[in-house]
Amino acid sequence: PRIAVLASGRGSNLQCLIDGIAAGQLEARIVGVFSDRPGARALDKVPAPSRWARSPKDFASREAFDEALGDAVAACNPDWIVCAGYMRILGAGFVERFSGRLVNIHPSLLPRHKGLHTHARAIEAGDTEHGASVHFVVPELDAGAVIAQARVPVLADDTPESLAARVLAVEHPLLLASVRLLATGRVTEQDGRIRLDGQSL
Ligand code: GRF
Repeated sequence: PRIAVLASGRGSNLQCLIDGIAAGQLEARIVGVFSDRPGARALDKVPAPSRWARSPKDFASREAFDEALGDAVAACNPDWIVCAGYMRILGAGFVERFSGRLVNIHPSLLPRHKGLHTHARAIEAGDTEHGASVHFVVPELDAGAVIAQARVPVLADDTPESLAARVLAVEHPLLLASVRLLATGRVTEQDGRIRLDGQSL
């Protein structure tokens, strides 16, 4: 299967997919890395022809940026599009264009803590558990069907940084396992619900 990855930052989640493929743990090809930040370090993890990055401020609107991004993603004919540390909200037009093939990893136990600053919010809320979720992307932010989650404890002396580090450590195996379920056809989405081995859950 052909996987396109959207990333905005350092790309540690992208790296774990690259490592998983190299280690034979995922039969797939990263056919492109796409970013809203031309300087994103994630871009350095793939050869230049597989990179696409534009600054949204070079576009007249969010829709115009998303259309250019969507055209570039479509051009590499991906089976799956994985948002791995992509920090811009994808408009409904983009989401619908790739509906059913678009997933995201979010650093919280959805449906808790949708949106940003999830680690600080988990500490603020006094949560004793936190973690990461891989989910299908729908127009509503962080609201799509959840494929898999990984849990970590929140410790009394945690800072957002210490908690983020603990979550990031489980994000990587979670993402690899989730993308493997997609790549092997075991998990699909239908009408906003997960189907495992063809059975609606
Ligand atoms: C990760 O915590 C991911 O869950 C969130 O952004 C962070 C970036 O990770 N969406 P990465 O190192 O750029 O993959």
